[in-house]
Amino acid sequence: KEVFLKDYKKPDYLFESVDLKFQLGEDKTIVSSNIAVYPREEGASSPLVLNGSDLKLLSIKVDGKDLKMSEDYKLDLRHLTLVSPPNGAFKLEIVTEIDPIHNTSLEGLYKSSGVFCTQCEAEGFRKITFYQDRPDVMAKYTCRIEANKEKYPVLLSNGNLIERGDLEDGQHYALWEDPYKKPSYLFALVAGQLESRDDSFVTCSGRKVALRIWTPAQDVPKTGHAMYSLKAAMKWDEEVFGLEYDLDLFNIVAVPDFNMGAMENKSLNIFNSKLVLASPETASDGDYASILGVIGHEYFHNWTGNRVTCRDWFQLSLKEGLTVFRDQEFSSDMGCRPVKRIADVSKLRNYQFPQDAGPMAHPVRPHSYIKMDNFYTVTVYEKGAEVVRMYKTLLGATGFRKGMDLYFQRHDGQAVTCEDFYAAMCNANGADLANFLQWYSQAGTPCVKVVSSYNAEAKTFTLKFSQEVPPTPGQPVKEPMFIPVAVGLLDSTGKEMPLSSLYSNGVQKTISSGEPVYTTVLHFNKKEGEFVFSNIPERPVPSLLRGYSAPIRLDSDLTDADLFFLLAHDSDEFNRWEAGQLLSRKLMLSLVSDFQQQKPLALNPSFVDGIRSILSNTTLDKEFISKAITLPGEGEIMDMMPVADPDAVHAVRIFIRKELALQLKQELLAAVTNNRSPGPYVFDHENMARRALKNTALVYLATLNEPDLTQLVLSEYKSASNMTEQFAAMAALAQNPGQVCDEVLADFYNKWQHDYLVVNKWFALQAMSDAPGNVENVRKLLNHPAFDMRNPNKVYSLIGGFCGSPVNFHAKDGSGYKFLGEVVVQLDKINPQVASRMVSAFSRWKRYDEDRQALAKAQLEMIVSANGLSENVYEIASKSLAA
Ligand code: ARG
Ligand code: ZN
Repeated sequence: KEVFLKDYKKPDYLFESVDLKFQLGEDKTIVSSNIAVYPREEGASSPLVLNGSDLKLLSIKVDGKDLKMSEDYKLDLRHLTLVSPPNGAFKLEIVTEIDPIHNTSLEGLYKSSGVFCTQCEAEGFRKITFYQDRPDVMAKYTCRIEANKEKYPVLLSNGNLIERGDLEDGQHYALWEDPYKKPSYLFALVAGQLESRDDSFVTCSGRKVALRIWTPAQDVPKTGHAMYSLKAAMKWDEEVFGLEYDLDLFNIVAVPDFNMGAMENKSLNIFNSKLVLASPETASDGDYASILGVIGHEYFHNWTGNRVTCRDWFQLSLKEGLTVFRDQEFSSDMGCRPVKRIADVSKLRNYQFPQDAGPMAHPVRPHSYIKMDNFYTVTVYEKGAEVVRMYKTLLGATGFRKGMDLYFQRHDGQAVTCEDFYAAMCNANGADLANFLQWYSQAGTPCVKVVSSYNAEAKTFTLKFSQEVPPTPGQPVKEPMFIPVAVGLLDSTGKEMPLSSLYSNGVQKTISSGEPVYTTVLHFNKKEGEFVFSNIPERPVPSLLRGYSAPIRLDSDLTDADLFFLLAHDSDEFNRWEAGQLLSRKLMLSLVSDFQQQKPLALNPSFVDGIRSILSNTTLDKEFISKAITLPGEGEIMDMMPVADPDAVHAVRIFIRKELALQLKQELLAAVTNNRSPGPYVFDHENMARRALKNTALVYLATLNEPDLTQLVLSEYKSASNMTEQFAAMAALAQNPGQVCDEVLADFYNKWQHDYLVVNKWFALQAMSDAPGNVENVRKLLNHPAFDMRNPNKVYSLIGGFCGSPVNFHAKDGSGYKFLGEVVVQLDKINPQVASRMVSAFSRWKRYDEDRQALAKAQLEMIVSANGLSENVYEIASKSLAA
């Protein structure tokens, strides 16, 4: 059943308080709920509809009196309806039985490695008890947990522990009370054999908060980085947003079986263990960075999500876009801003752009859904974060902070909408952001064209913009968007030109009369726009869309010479990288066309020189260098072709990499030898940057597959004392299938078979291999003793990894499609959310040639007709077919 934003209605009944009791058992769990209900409007007497799924109703009472089936209430597969509840407030008592042990969907209450835990967002609470499972119903909760004391010594829920004690028959209990009103999706319970790393944080107002990170005993030593991240996040939110933690206890629990990354349940965050556990030997720099970002993300939700929540699920980006923006800023401040920006923009381009151009394209605030879980997307999260970033770009740091302050002042304790956020931003600044709200309702990536011209007589420089938002499913015609374009101008020596005044839309605007200004933000919000800079003494090279000031595709008239110039001189480091990427994309596209016409491939020498000068520039940040010498991904290039050709793009990317490795061998060797680890592992930007550069150089060198280079990489593998360098060396070697590769893979497994998180990396590396016919190897790995279809991380590593190799997933013989089709049907019976994520790999099937289209379509049809298919997979597969 499809749900629409336009059908939103306020609930007729509200809940004042909820008292829950869980009797956790091995074969079944009994949940008793006691709710204080009141009508939203006095005197109304409509039926009260509660959501529920996979529940066994044991009893239901209103004000202490048992209700009669069909007379007093009706029950179907998804609802319990109280036909005519009392007028006015009443007490509702419901007892249900659930079966967490057999809950493989990992939604609601389930067991992961012997630990009971919950995941309620978006609509999982209805698998625990009958409830108005919607975020605009906010209530105060208490939660009593009863369980066997030996098996489940630790009993956790939201808020404060107010009582605990022993019961008969080896049972014990704990009673928790959360003083803050919350929607059901923020409810959490954990019970099991866990130990904690304990620490504390003193808040800006001097309150001491106990911090605990819970894991199985043997993993506690690996929680140091997570604790460091949590304390850093708490401090950062106080300093940057003035937001203080609001309880005396903050718990984090790590579980191995989790559909997503983590969940921000009030004061009891539950995490996928891969986003908590780290040691230098077992986790890579990438893992350390993700942990920092996600621990921050979930913590930041305490204000953006929990204290102020969403009115309905269409508003998801209100909390997620904003919280992603906050975690991006946090990671920037803790590390290196331009490098973080490059990583975030790459993610947007590689994952969100394809979604925006495919059958699942939806606005940051979707108009409808069948399964909400399918809308925890890169569009809602990452494009949503870009929308928040644009407010900051338009209003400035101070203006943005004013807007945030007003947002909390107005809406603390409420469930609100994206318009409420917009209004707070505008009102706090007396700003009129015109058609900015289109960013929430129009899907598709805007394409912006810009043409520049210089008038030497008038000393003016003109930028003419035009925009086009491509049609997307259900939205054939689009309105213009409000696009902030940050611009700077470079003179012929590469220096920034001071910007004094600007003429646009018939008005003259002073940019600066005193202090020189080098970057200004153009407000381009019509179909076409012209901006004229005056007092420009010579023809400048414009640096456009600095810092990537809007989530658009920009098509400019910059020449290759301009781009090389920007690559060498732009003071905006993001745009410096961007210039290199633009050159690489152009080069790759032209070589792809040569390849398709069977012309010999040759590399433009000035491109090699450009890369060489970046590589040997000692003033640049090393991680920046590593990113600047890395070519755009295959997906990005395929995206720009009328018909995506995975084989041609792959061949060209390999060709360029080998050619660069050959011609820059000395520089790359120097990058390896100059950047070896001087001592034990340190997690800071300088050390990560050094490792990143060394590892990128190793991967280049290994493409040459020369014996002495292979020896070099092999010795790096053997001497590595941390996972970052060990894994990178193995991945470099794995580019060339054969004996060395096999031996290293076997050695690695032997070393790490006891650590499932490391084994997942080993699965992923093999799954992503571009070796011809790798699908057979992946099929074999499905039967590997360490693989388990019920664990999402393993599925993401092996199946997800395989779909990440375009040549193998899109193999001409259809073997990749057939493999994924089979897996999806099997997986759907275990875990629909995970199956649905996997089936998304098919969604862009129409981008390929006719043979591939037919093969992919056949698999989608097979999936859609499978018996007992979940709504999750149905929604993605059917929308993919329909588009
Ligand atoms: N709110 C969580 C976060 O921090 C994600 C929850 C996802 N749940 C789901 N069923 N898709 O981003
Ligand atoms: Zn989130």
